[in-house]
Amino acid sequence: WAPKGRGVWRYASMLPVKNGVTMGEGQTPLVPSTLKPNLYVKYDGANPTGSFKDRGMALGVTVAKLSGANKVVVASTGNTAASAAAYAARAGLKCYVVLPRGNVARGKLMQAALHGAELVMLNGLFDKALEYVVNYGTKYAYPLNSFNPWRLEGQKTAAFEIYEEVGCPDYVVVPVGNAGNISAIWKGFKELWELGLCKKLPKMVGVQAEGAAPIANAWAMGKRAPIFLDEPHTVATAIKIGKPINWPKAVAAVEESGGLFVTVSDEEILRAQRLLASRDGLGAEPAGAASVAAALKLDLSGTVVAVVTGHALKDPDVVEISAREVRNADELVELLEK
Ligand code: F0G
Repeated sequence: WAPKGRGVWRYASMLPVKNGVTMGEGQTPLVPSTLKPNLYVKYDGANPTGSFKDRGMALGVTVAKLSGANKVVVASTGNTAASAAAYAARAGLKCYVVLPRGNVARGKLMQAALHGAELVMLNGLFDKALEYVVNYGTKYAYPLNSFNPWRLEGQKTAAFEIYEEVGCPDYVVVPVGNAGNISAIWKGFKELWELGLCKKLPKMVGVQAEGAAPIANAWAMGKRAPIFLDEPHTVATAIKIGKPINWPKAVAAVEESGGLFVTVSDEEILRAQRLLASRDGLGAEPAGAASVAAALKLDLSGTVVAVVTGHALKDPDVVEISAREVRNADELVELLEK
């Protein structure tokens, strides 16, 4: 444990690779929330491409490069695509992103296009895109989905940053889609514990949207194995996933930590998104606000960290925008005087 410098490489002593591609990812703000006592928001929307994926891509793209690959491929609900596109661009690699048509928020599509990725659309949901990447993509390009263990090595640094600011909290609340991030963060805390830095490990809380809750629904019935869904639905498109590939690791993280899985409704997600924005000043995309929705809903004692995984700008279409019109300065003054 010898943190030094910036980006995920600050924690080189804890990583299996010691340096590589970086854009200063990580060191995101840990903000005390005004919404509940002892609630902190780990604002991972503040990463270079606006999501936690950058932590994993710094490692993943570095290893892709070391392995001699010249192409990378991902299936994505959008954030993985945006992040892979940006980090691949920086490393001089060609990037293919396989996306479920109509199920990717506009900001994310724009980013993947801007960073020069090849956008591939298919009819179907994320689960089908991932299946294609696993079965066909991996033969031709280096895969950067979260079944790639290097991704999780990068993402575990969120735990190290939380530790540097508040020590080891009582609960860490994480939105769960393909179920990589919660296992990565848990791995980070366990490593701190093994070094004797964490005296007591946090309980991990995995949050899924009510209509896309293969793991949380099974958990509520006392089962470990998820109940896969063919047609998941939720406003939080980032976590609209019916067959999460990393489920065994996520269930292990929650079980070992003594935590739980919980579902939140789309209404609860959108309400948390509005509260977080209008009271705390933090803009989250819906999936990112799911952790806050769960932290507000559950009765958790002690220090609680909700990981806000993606920035509000990712998904401009979920927010209704209304404006007043003024025809002259008098009308503006009248409005301001109210
Ligand atoms: N929050 C956001 C904003 C995400 O984009 C994702 C996953 C998650 C949470 C869930 O993380 O999959 O590790 O459990 N997005 C992936 C993507 C699926 O393609 O961008 P997870």
